[in-house]
Amino acid sequence: MIHLTVNGTSHALDVQPDVPLLYVLRNDLQLNGPKYGCGLGECGACTVLVDGIAARSCVIPLGIMAGRSVTTLEGLGTPEALHPVQQAFIDAQAAQCGYCLNGMIMTVTALLNRNPSPNDTEIRAELRGNLCRCGAHVEILRAAHRAAT
Ligand code: FES
Repeated sequence: MIHLTVNGTSHALDVQPDVPLLYVLRNDLQLNGPKYGCGLGECGACTVLVDGIAARSCVIPLGIMAGRSVTTLEGLGTPEALHPVQQAFIDAQAAQCGYCLNGMIMTVTALLNRNPSPNDTEIRAELRGNLCRCGAHVEILRAAHRAAT
C-alpha cells in the first residue's frame, strides 16, 4: 500500500510500485487533467506538481511517491473560482486543440510559485520542455505574461 496526498486528499493505493503516477491519477483517481502524450518524459503533457515542483508524471513510478503531495490541474482552482494561471490562459485564448495546456498551466504555475515576476527569457526557458503541436506558442507566452503581472 502506498500513501500519498493528491489535491489535498490522502490516498492509500494498492498499486504495483512500478506503475507510473500518471496512470494512477487518470485510471485510479479519475483525474484527467494530466494527459498522456509521449509517455517518455519529453512532451510535458502529463505535468503535475510534486511537493510544489513541476514533474512529468508519466516517468515517475508510484513506488517513490510515498508521503509526497501531488497537485493536478483539478487541484488548482474550481469551475467557480479558477486559479489565476487558468484564467490567464482563457483570457489570452491560449488554446487550439488544448492537449498541451495541462502541462503549460502546471509548468507556469510552478514557475510563478517560486518567481512571481519572471521575465520573458525566464518564461521561455521554463516552457522549453513543453511541446505544443498546434503552434499556439505566441498565445501561450502571452498567457504566461498575463499570469505573471
Ligand atoms: Fe509525460 Fe510526455 S506524456 S512527458
